[in-house]
Amino acid sequence: MSVERAAALLRGAHAAVALTGAGVSTESGLPDFRSPGGLWAGVDPMRVASLTAFRRRPQEFYAFYQTRLSLLRQARPNPAHYALARLEQAGVLRAVITQNVDGLHHAAGSQRVLEIHGNLRRAVCPECGWRADIALLEEALTAGALPRCETCGSPLKPDVVLFEELLPLNVFAEAERLCREADVLLVVGSSLQVTPAASLPQTVLEHGGLLVIVNREPTPFDPEAAVVLRDAAGTVLPTIAARVAGGLASSAEDEQRPPGLS
Ligand code: APR
Ligand code: ZN
Repeated sequence: MSVERAAALLRGAHAAVALTGAGVSTESGLPDFRSPGGLWAGVDPMRVASLTAFRRRPQEFYAFYQTRLSLLRQARPNPAHYALARLEQAGVLRAVITQNVDGLHHAAGSQRVLEIHGNLRRAVCPECGWRADIALLEEALTAGALPRCETCGSPLKPDVVLFEELLPLNVFAEAERLCREADVLLVVGSSLQVTPAASLPQTVLEHGGLLVIVNREPTPFDPEAAVVLRDAAGTVLPTIAARVAGGLASSAEDEQRPPGLS
């Protein structure tokens, strides 16, 4: 049974890492991008989420992000986020590499989270790098003003990687290093269509690691995956975590329990 096989691979792993996408947060009420009704349904991402949009069409750009920010306010971690935090606490996962900008892995208790696409809870000045809480940007927009940097006066943007922008190179380099060393990569809720994030499973495979994919829809890496679970992350991850962390906990208890006591 695939859940058992996924749990066994993670239990036996020494350098497992998770890679998550928007699908891990849909059960928190946040739409993903490419599912029917997702954020890109009927929207051209280049018109609302690119550097050109930010510079040339600020109204459309900020309207799109105000919608995302209002959804984010109600969002709370779901069982999938908590399961990944539990796997890290149990020493099974070294880190969570996420394409998401919602901050829900941190909120669920994950400690080592590599946010390769940034974080929507911060604002940044693209000219001088000044950063502030996203509330500053939201307050300006609510007042009908353009959010401006308090250091150099340039327009502020959400601290997320827009199309036409580079990823934070140091964060991505760390993600690549973890994937080179990974014996198991647990992919959760990503269509694995956007590079360079989608190159990470390839890095794992090239270095002899295995893929465990939890995704409702097929992904390009399914044929090379050791396990594919076509299931809801919020359902299957807690089951895997219980089998792995629970199994580890019981084995840890066994180790501490004096012989003879079963
Ligand atoms: N459980 C499992 N899988 C799910 C769930 C769920 N509850 N909900 C959605 N999915 C799957 C969808 O079937 C889809 O294949 O998650 C995947 C999400 O894929 P995308 O919407 O493409 O999101 P993602 O892979 O994170 O996109 C990567 O693209 O536009 C950019 O910057 C954006 O970070 C994003 C990047
Ligand atoms: Zn500035």
